[in-house]
Parts: sequence; C-alpha cells; structure tokens
Amino acid sequence: MENKWIYTSNSEEDTEKIAAEFAKTLKKGDFIAFFGNLGSGKTAFVRGVASVLCPKARVQSPTYAIVNEYRGDIPIFHFDMYRILDDDSLYSVGFYDYFDRGGVIFTEWSENIPFALPDERYDITFEKTGDTGRIITIEKK
Ligand SMILES: Nc1ncnc2c1ncn2[C@@H]1O[C@H](COP(=O)(O)OP(=O)(O)OP(=O)(O)O)[C@@H](O)[C@H]1O
Ligand SMILES: [Mg+2]
Repeated sequence: MENKWIYTSNSEEDTEKIAAEFAKTLKKGDFIAFFGNLGSGKTAFVRGVASVLCPKARVQSPTYAIVNEYRGDIPIFHFDMYRILDDDSLYSVGFYDYFDRGGVIFTEWSENIPFALPDERYDITFEKTGDTGRIITIEKK
C-alpha cells in the first residue's frame, strides 16, 4: 500500500532519523496522531522532526503543560493527551485553535481523543519489540 510505511528502529537515534526523514514531507497544517505505550518513542520522534523544522527547540514531554510550542520555519505544536479524557478539557487548553496557526500538530496518547482527530491526518503507531526495538508504522489517512 502506498499510503503506509513500516520502519524498524533499534535505538533512539534510529527513531530520530526516521522522524527527520518524515519531517521533510510535512507542510503547514498537517496533523499527526501518535498511538503507543509509555516509553515507546513518541517524544523521541518529535525530537527528530524538530531537528529539521525547529532546530533550535528543546523538545521535552508536555505531560504537565499538555502542549509545548517549538518555533521554526514550520512551528510544531506538541500535545500530550495522557491526562485529557473529554472534549471540555481539550477546549480549555485551546486545542482547536491550533488547527489554524500554520504549524504541524503532534498528539501523543491519541487513544484518548478519537472524537477530536481530523479525518485527514497521519497515524503513527509505535510498538515495542524489545528493550530498544520498535516498529514504527506511518499511515496517511
Ligand atoms: N528504538 C527506540 N526508539 C525510541 N526510544 C527508544 C528506543 N529504544 C530505547 N528507547 C528509549 O525509550 C524511551 C522513549 O521515551 P519517549 O519519551 O520518547 O517515549 P514516549 O512514547 O514519548 O513515552 P510517554 O508515553 O511516557 O510520553 C527513551 O528512554 C529512549 O531512550
Ligand atoms: Mg512522550
């Protein structure tokens, strides 16, 4: 299938490289939904994307802030939906306002917000196959 790509990563650096390649295909307004467990590499993937789009940014987990913003030619809005359980909490963090802000949006823990995902998006799934093994599947919807 031409809208689905499957990668094997054996280290955090591999994941960042896969992400940096993916970053070159991104344009303003793109939405990327992450699926996958704790420590599977979602934040590491954003770090790889930021190395291309926002090279000065320091990427950290937005678990407490809910959203981190990184500045660059194409800004990155990096959400962690771990604590988000309903649409009201999405509104209170201004989630929907970010759609028109000319950046790319990443959502960790998209499992929690199926009702809020746009139809047109990338789904990226992270599966652990061992201590450092990961299968990363990118699907364009
Ligand atoms: N192949 C790999 N790709 C990415 N990270 C890896 C890999 N192998 C080991 N790791 C380690 O796994 C951890 C991944 O952490 P990261 O914060 O990116 O995960 P996460 O999916 O964002 O987790 P959380 O759901 O807690 O936010 C890091 O400690 C990293 O060093
Ligand atoms: Mg994370």
